Amino acid sequence: MKAFIHVGKPGIENTHFTDFEEVEPKKGEVKVRVKTAGLNHRDIWTLHRRGENAAPVVMGSDGAGVIHALGEGVENVQVGDEVIINPSLGWLHKSASSPDGFEVLGVPSNGTFAEYVTIPAENVEPKPKHMTWEEAGVFPLAAITAYRALFTRGKLESQQTVLVPGIGSGVATFVLLMAKAAGARVIVTSRSEEKCQRALELGADLALDSGSDWKKLMQGEKVDLVIDTVGTAIWDKAMSVLKRGGSIVNLGATSGQKVEIDLRYLYGGQFNIMGTAMGSSEEFKEMVAFVEKHGIKPVIDRVFPHENTLGAFQRMNASTQFGKICIKMGS
Ligand SMILES: NC(=O)c1ccc[n+]([C@@H]2O[C@H](COP(=O)([O-])OP(=O)(O)OC[C@H]3O[C@@H](n4cnc5c(N)ncnc54)[C@H](OP(=O)(O)O)[C@@H]3O)[C@@H](O)[C@H]2O)c1
Repeated sequence: MKAFIHVGKPGIENTHFTDFEEVEPKKGEVKVRVKTAGLNHRDIWTLHRRGENAAPVVMGSDGAGVIHALGEGVENVQVGDEVIINPSLGWLHKSASSPDGFEVLGVPSNGTFAEYVTIPAENVEPKPKHMTWEEAGVFPLAAITAYRALFTRGKLESQQTVLVPGIGSGVATFVLLMAKAAGARVIVTSRSEEKCQRALELGADLALDSGSDWKKLMQGEKVDLVIDTVGTAIWDKAMSVLKRGGSIVNLGATSGQKVEIDLRYLYGGQFNIMGTAMGSSEEFKEMVAFVEKHGIKPVIDRVFPHENTLGAFQRMNASTQFGKICIKMGS
């Protein structure tokens, strides 16, 4: 089969679109013919985290496709079923954190940027009927992360206000759509005027330039919840507009990993600072039911053919995307 792999030294220059061995499903596994896959920032981070002499591995965590073969004992799906892939491996039940042994599909295990992927049968769910293949393939990782961040960790209630910095992020666009569906007021920020405009069209109530003085522009308004994927560049400003007793849920650090906190504001404001990462199978099912109920679809930035997966990586590296970047197999 054709696959987009990384091998050898860290870095994008050691990726290849090449032939790769197919893996037949063992007991409890399914082999999926991948139709579409989605790029996540994780795919770029992992390129830099692998060792100096890394073995070949198929990249990619997100995907959707058709069940091609079943391992022994698989009963939840049949050959020919249309499915989406839950990339959280080994995390079944909703819990405070992921369990020991939890892994994200795609590095160290072989991922979805291939014509076929073999995964545990518990990691496939029926493809939402209201989504195209392109939408279904890009949605799992960002949507489960956004859902857990907003509802399990952030405990968002309708009528509350959420701040979403860096709305260009794939996760952030889901946070916006899900929070609006839940009846919340949503304020977003971006470095790009065009992305601010897109967010307003998607339902954001207010869009601010990420580089501006948010406190001033918000004229005294404060938020109940911040869902942060950006990190260093926005942390101080996010704290400055948080209500007393409000929460920041962090799930990424695209602009930098270190922040300084004035502890007087932390205890004085009685803020809650939380981390979150991905989600369990239980939350994945809840999330799929939520997006089906509200007809939520991912925002697709651009679709790249499988053989130009490198182009998808380059687009994300340049941070020019709005929403999710899709990779289409067999085009
Ligand atoms: N914990 C988890 O389970 C999990 C899951 C998924 C993703 N993540 C993490 O979440 C982050 C978001 O990932 P993603 O793939 O959705 O999107 P991404 O490509 O990392 O986009 C992040 C957004 O952050 C904003 N940004 C970047 N640098 C900035 C800076 N210096 N100042 C202000 N804003 C800046 C940009 O928004 P604008 O272009 O609008 O300015 C950009 O679109 C990544 O760090 C990723 O690793 C974590």
